Amino acid sequence: MEGYDLIMRKQIVAGNWKMNNDLSQTQSLIEALQSQEITSKAEVMVAPTFTNLLQACEALKSSPIEVIAQNMHFAENGAYTGEISADMLKSVGVKTVILGHSERRAYFNETDESLAKKVDAALANDMRVIFCFGEELADRKSGNEESVVENQIKNALFHLEAQAFNNIVLAYEPVWAIGTGETASPEQAQDMHAFIRQTLADAYGNEVANNTSILYGGSCKPNNAQEIFSKPDVDGGLIGGASLKAEDFFAIVNAF
Ligand code: 13P
Repeated sequence: MEGYDLIMRKQIVAGNWKMNNDLSQTQSLIEALQSQEITSKAEVMVAPTFTNLLQACEALKSSPIEVIAQNMHFAENGAYTGEISADMLKSVGVKTVILGHSERRAYFNETDESLAKKVDAALANDMRVIFCFGEELADRKSGNEESVVENQIKNALFHLEAQAFNNIVLAYEPVWAIGTGETASPEQAQDMHAFIRQTLADAYGNEVANNTSILYGGSCKPNNAQEIFSKPDVDGGLIGGASLKAEDFFAIVNAF
């Protein structure tokens, strides 16, 4: 795609801690993160579990590392036992939320429709969204990976105005690469990211497409991050397992 000279998009590396680490483990990991040096230009984020967000926000208040949430509900408040609203996240200092992770889609029945509502709720609350999507192995084997990804993006996001993309980061996470040790090759990641950017350009124009960060997630490790991040349409990573060790996470952050 043309227009790369106008690129404004951010490089981001975010650690998704998933359902790992109790309070004291979270505090230890944060201390270990604080002892590392950020040498890259990338924005750095970590997503502890809900119960540890407040402490993480306080501990990292004067650090460049942003604390983000792994999920939220679309309602403002009310009878939704066990759920967390945008307002609750903001009240502890969280301004960014991951939505649509494949584990939430697979185990908690999150659909394009419910995700569209969550995206709307987050944006209405001035929060930034890291929107995840990605094909399963069967989709890739049958050559349908692009149509699956296109539908996931269109169904949850394409009702938005162009301006909304100022607060949206996309995260392509092929399900077959998550937690499996099998990563997409740098070429597979680049091909899909270029397709995603073109899909955005077709719907919203080159400016939105060029300014939207697209992260890669799925078995991203210190030994493969640099090559994946070197691809022109890969703007960073969403890191699972390797984000649970401060040294590995920072090796990935500093791979930029
Ligand atoms: P892994 O890095 O453990 O494969 O997880 C990726 C992921 O799901 C990040 O959200």
